[in-house]
Amino acid sequence: MPRQTYLCAVVTFVACLVLMQAGRATPLDLSSISGPAIVKQLMHLATFSDDPNPAVTRLIFTPNDMEARRYVRVLMRDAGLSIREDPMGNIYGRMAGSSSTGAVVTGSHTDAIPLAGAYDGTLGVIGAIAALKALRAAGFRPERPIDTLMFTSEEPTRFGLGCIGSRGMVGALSAKTLDAKVDINGTTFKDASARVGSGGSSHEAILAGTRVPDGAVSAFVELHIEQGPLLEKEGLQLGIVSAIAAPAAFRVSLSGDGGHAGALLMPDRNDAGLAAAEVALAVEEATLAAGAIDAVGTTGYVQLGPNTMNSVPREARLEIDIRDIDAARRDATVEKVLKSIERIAEKRKVRHRVEVINQDPPVTCSQKVTAAATEAAEELGASHKSLVSRAYHDTLFMSQIAPAGMIFIPCRNGWSHRPDEFASAENIEMGVKALALTLAKLAGSAENESHSEL
Ligand code: GLV
Ligand code: MN
Ligand code: MN
Repeated sequence: MPRQTYLCAVVTFVACLVLMQAGRATPLDLSSISGPAIVKQLMHLATFSDDPNPAVTRLIFTPNDMEARRYVRVLMRDAGLSIREDPMGNIYGRMAGSSSTGAVVTGSHTDAIPLAGAYDGTLGVIGAIAALKALRAAGFRPERPIDTLMFTSEEPTRFGLGCIGSRGMVGALSAKTLDAKVDINGTTFKDASARVGSGGSSHEAILAGTRVPDGAVSAFVELHIEQGPLLEKEGLQLGIVSAIAAPAAFRVSLSGDGGHAGALLMPDRNDAGLAAAEVALAVEEATLAAGAIDAVGTTGYVQLGPNTMNSVPREARLEIDIRDIDAARRDATVEKVLKSIERIAEKRKVRHRVEVINQDPPVTCSQKVTAAATEAAEELGASHKSLVSRAYHDTLFMSQIAPAGMIFIPCRNGWSHRPDEFASAENIEMGVKALALTLAKLAGSAENESHSEL
């Protein structure tokens, strides 16, 4: 064989080998994901709290929320992500893709209700940053960009409405609603949010700038603790969420005439506090009457006025939360409660006002995302099951603009929204690995575009 032909054959053979290698999905090395290291970051984040740890209280736009935001930015920068904040203060950290179409997005929240724990929401923010850092360390180059997100105000504590950031992103929030939001101290949403995003601008402008353009998100996935007991009870490592229950919330104001606790005789009273107590019991009764384990009703906030021992309550304000995986059944429970409020108010001769805060539909998670997460779990050799989320999450709203789903990890006794909320470093590590792999599948590899076919 002439020398030139021989050389040409060798070069062609080597080139073929290289191309074959590039076309094959090489397993990702995710060994840089360390559960204990992520726990350390979660514990650091937990120190930004209005109550001493292990309790975590971090209401939106408070100094501790600002500290948490700063820390999230530090971690994003350290992971090599490019950071941007939208006008509502949702913080994005981006890993660029070889193409700029339809980002794969992951994220959760860092705000915490009073006396919560260290894992609700935070895992889905810190874990997502750790997942992207590990993908980079593994040499993974995504075809689509991957965004991590810290959503503004998932918890309803301060302004009475949950998922404000994600509602804004998907166009499920009006300026009129935001204009009317005032916290318990009379601070408006506009004033409280002045230090984030484009705080201070009109809510119309903020919402217009926050709205995600059509097609900008190709998939959304959120990592979260289960907040229920099933995975732990069954000894499973991961939950692949199939659906998210429909939440509804409303505020009830009751007012009587009050009076002196000693002087005002029992037949002459119209006690707003007792009316409130009856309403709370009516919520329980109506929810139980739905006859479904998925139906839950809670009166988690009651405020009496003047709230002093020797005065008959003149005012009562309640906030009621009713959820079900079946929206029609949830709505029927809400209707029953509203009728009970009328009846109780009439019987106790108190005036009443009901304000529906939100009545959102349930969500069925996308097959595209659950398939990617299930494949990831299989590849990691993790035990898993499909389950329903009874808590709500920003995924509920992100599903309005993109195929969306969630990955759960077990938490101790299913406890959440309490200081002893806990998830083990091992389960956290597996959850973050599953998230990393799911993101890689959804984003596709720049070297191997077949990944994005899922
Ligand atoms: C979110 O924290 C919820 O209440 O489900
Ligand atoms: Mn929560
Ligand atoms: Mn949460």
